[in-house]
Amino acid sequence: MYSATCEAPVNMALVKYWGKRNEELILPINDSISMTLDANEMSAKTTVAASESFKQNRMWLNGEVVPFEDNARLMRCLEGVQRLALANGGLKFPLSWKLHIASYNNFPTAAGLASSAAGYACLVYTLARLYEIPMNEQLTTIARQGSGSACRSLHGGFVQWHRGIEDDGSDSIAEQLVTAEHWPNMHMLILVVNDARKKTGSTKGMQSAVETSALIQHRATTIVPQRIKELRTAIQARDFKTFAELTMRDSNQLHAIALDTYPPCIYMNDVSHAIVNFVHDYNESVGEVKAAYTFDAGPNGCLYVLAENVAPLLAAIQVAFPNDAQQSVEYLKGIPVPPIELKKVATNGIAEHVNPKNLLKYIIHTKIGDGPRQLSDEKSLLIDGLPLPK
Ligand code: DP6
Repeated sequence: MYSATCEAPVNMALVKYWGKRNEELILPINDSISMTLDANEMSAKTTVAASESFKQNRMWLNGEVVPFEDNARLMRCLEGVQRLALANGGLKFPLSWKLHIASYNNFPTAAGLASSAAGYACLVYTLARLYEIPMNEQLTTIARQGSGSACRSLHGGFVQWHRGIEDDGSDSIAEQLVTAEHWPNMHMLILVVNDARKKTGSTKGMQSAVETSALIQHRATTIVPQRIKELRTAIQARDFKTFAELTMRDSNQLHAIALDTYPPCIYMNDVSHAIVNFVHDYNESVGEVKAAYTFDAGPNGCLYVLAENVAPLLAAIQVAFPNDAQQSVEYLKGIPVPPIELKKVATNGIAEHVNPKNLLKYIIHTKIGDGPRQLSDEKSLLIDGLPLPK
């Protein structure tokens, strides 16, 4: 039996991918840029084992059996990596050997945090390790066919996914713009919002946007190309103010298009809008742009903030969004924030807008991170080809 175990990060888009020009190959109508998040706080972990004795391909996700052969996206990723392996030659075992795959997310899938991006990136990266294919840009074109945003999770730091112009998608790749070391103090607070409503998933939401929104074409052809240029320059220059404004405007535009879709898709809720207001009030009260929000296809607010500004921002969040569990480790997850700093509250302009209690479920403090990596065999999620007991 041969096996490999790897870990891959989540990424959060600054200029959003929304809309496909080819549903099957997952080719987008516009470029996007994201930041990869540190795998310590949020990541997918996957083991793939190949053995002569396995009767069929099998997969377990968070300990539960999931369909394999009739999952078109999964099969496309597997076949893509196997094609590369064949082209590379020198295989240690025949490609006909069946696979057992176990995958876990170390964060709640139900929280609506980009789990498919980390999951497919991890699957493709782990298959590549198993078949001994070195990291290369073709792997990003394969991960893209699992879930579009997954291609960006194959790199660390800031990453641009190029829409490409070829019909076969060969130039729709993810490229690393800068490593995490370029802007190491870029942190993020994820405000996980209580929400019970059923959402239209990203895949369906962006499909109906392309079919029915008049605004989306203008975004893709005119707004995004310019925004991508400006954001690349802001990232290179570590210009937080410009970075923040572009990010917030792009998030707002994604949700404007969601609303322009017919029937409309509504992802943000009242708490999300309270977070938007809070960030603008906060930046005004401190007289400088120190935080930027972005929202994906869900109500959770992701706030970009530099390391040195995390503690005062968090203190202001605690004032504006009071919570009974505020001081507990279950409420404040991820990188610890020194408690002493929490007392330095910048509340001017914030204290007047205190929201009702317990609107947030919890907060995750994380930061910019590196791309996927292989783990040692002791970290395997399979024992004798079967998943570890839960
Ligand atoms: C709002 O990558 O989940 O997070 O390609 O259909 O699997 P599929 O969609 P997915 O969409 C992500 C949309 C987004 C924006 C982004 O990550 O760029």
